[in-house]
Amino acid sequence: MVYGVILAGGIGSRMGNAEKPKQYLQVGDKPIIVHTVEKMYVHPDIEQVIVLCPAQWVSYTKTLLKKYVPEAAGIVVLEGGSTRNETIMNAVSYIERQGKLDDDTIIVTHDSVRPFITHRIISENVQYAKSYGACDTVIPASDTIVESMDGKVISTIPDRSKMYQGQTPQSFRAKKLKELYESLSQQEKEILTDAAKIFAIKGEKVHLVLGEVSNIKITYPYDLRVAEALIFSDSKIMQGQ
Ligand code: CTP
Repeated sequence: MVYGVILAGGIGSRMGNAEKPKQYLQVGDKPIIVHTVEKMYVHPDIEQVIVLCPAQWVSYTKTLLKKYVPEAAGIVVLEGGSTRNETIMNAVSYIERQGKLDDDTIIVTHDSVRPFITHRIISENVQYAKSYGACDTVIPASDTIVESMDGKVISTIPDRSKMYQGQTPQSFRAKKLKELYESLSQQEKEILTDAAKIFAIKGEKVHLVLGEVSNIKITYPYDLRVAEALIFSDSKIMQGQ
């Protein structure tokens, strides 16, 4: 079974919006999280969508989805975890409690705040996760990446042609992810914010899926303006203007 797992367990501190976490802010005619859920929900490879959000936002999220995606009554809304990886593991635990966690269970984990995910990116994630067990969506780095150990002077400048920027989805065989995650020490768990890294540090291959420059993550107020502009230009294209 293939699950679309929408990660909305964060509070969006860098957005600086005290009223509600950034995933609930409006872009175009609906909240960001609704755009993201719709993209995942309509994809034919995704058999079940699971949304994870902060505990105090669970009932709000259910109401929101009922209002904007009424045809999707089967979407499950659960409480997220204290870290992004814990949020993912809450989804895996849910699947296990349903008796559905087996070697063929695939999870396509995606940031709720990346509403411009495309059909192709989802298709390739499902295909690669089935073929290889783990994949990460990336784009070639457009800026040179500079590493500094002390934040003051350059330590090294890696070859840009080998550098990529990580996006989401990150997709995995869920049973394998759980086994690898459980084999980490508490200390390792705390520093591993990225789920693909769980595979990578255990020596497991994570294949690359080519993302899109437009698959932005809404992090800062500036990103909201970019998202508004993207939605506006998409609507113009759809109207044939
Ligand atoms: N996320 C999650 N569970 C957490 C933390 C983050 O599901 N415990 C989700 C966020 O809701 C977001 C995605 O992971 O959709 C990417 O994280 P980020 O952009 O860092 O979101 P926040 O943690 O909300 O933002 P900030 O770091 O500014 O507080």
